[in-house]
Amino acid sequence: MLLIDEARIVTEADGLAARGATVNEVLEFLRGKLSLDAFGMLLFDLPREDLPALSKLLPRMASDETQRNFTGDSGLSLLKPTVSFIRALAYNYAALRNRSLSGAKILDYGCGYGRMTRLLYYFSNPEAIWAVDPWDLAVNLCREANLAGNVAQSDYLPKGLPAPEAAFDVMFAFSVFTHTSRNATDAALSALRKHIAPNGLLAITIRPAEYWVVNPDYAPQAETYQAKHAAEGFAFVPHGRDTVEGEATYGDTSMTLEFLAANYPDWRIEATDWALADPYQRYVFLKPA
Ligand SMILES: C[S@@+](CC[C@H](N)C(=O)[O-])C[C@H]1O[C@@H](n2cnc3c(N)ncnc32)[C@H](O)[C@@H]1O
Repeated sequence: MLLIDEARIVTEADGLAARGATVNEVLEFLRGKLSLDAFGMLLFDLPREDLPALSKLLPRMASDETQRNFTGDSGLSLLKPTVSFIRALAYNYAALRNRSLSGAKILDYGCGYGRMTRLLYYFSNPEAIWAVDPWDLAVNLCREANLAGNVAQSDYLPKGLPAPEAAFDVMFAFSVFTHTSRNATDAALSALRKHIAPNGLLAITIRPAEYWVVNPDYAPQAETYQAKHAAEGFAFVPHGRDTVEGEATYGDTSMTLEFLAANYPDWRIEATDWALADPYQRYVFLKPA
């Protein structure tokens, strides 16, 4: 739980908001004083009755049920892998670009209800943040929650995104390419390429071959999927719903780094990383070639 000092800072921020401070002023105040984890705890817990002004200004967190529907987990337990990824994003951006994430223009692709997007306020003001998803339900959840920043709906097989081109310092897709079909993966990586700044960084997550064993739904046929992963570098099992132009674009996907390097020549792999909080989401950092 938050330390007494951190709880006092949050109460002070509510006072600021009650006296008419803007979202950006409140975020500026919180950033300097809370750790990323404490900031995440606050945002995952809104609205709070004891923080009425802050709860009006900052987005409401999705219900536990919505959180579980999108990611299989909720609350503090979900915050841990969320913070792990955002920390890895900040660390790798600093290490690879010699720049802090602070003030970066960032796009969250396949944002869902905006789980990761919320934590980006720790680094940038909402006007520099874009949350994009092809599912109208996800986009509506972001809007209904009053997610600050730019929220937009894309296509399942996008040619481009509803966002500025060649503009983003950082783009990421967490738990998206772990689900997309080959065509949806091709379309998305090519669309994302149009929007990355020349010196930008794209972070995606992919699943390793082990995924097919650790997911009990697939374990009985794990050998088949692992063989496809090894032979083709890409294995996809459609969920059998959400068809687009007659094609299932969504399911469960594993892929290799070699597959990424060989099939997407306009991207170059710069680094990889992962976190104990979720070892089956492997982070891959790509730069525009
Ligand atoms: C498992 S959820 C992850 C949501 C969010 N990134 C997170 O980590 O909380 C997968 C998301 O990908 C979106 N999605 C589905 N098909 C997609 C596609 N073809 N391109 C981009 N996103 C897609 C879904 O609508 C959903 O919001």
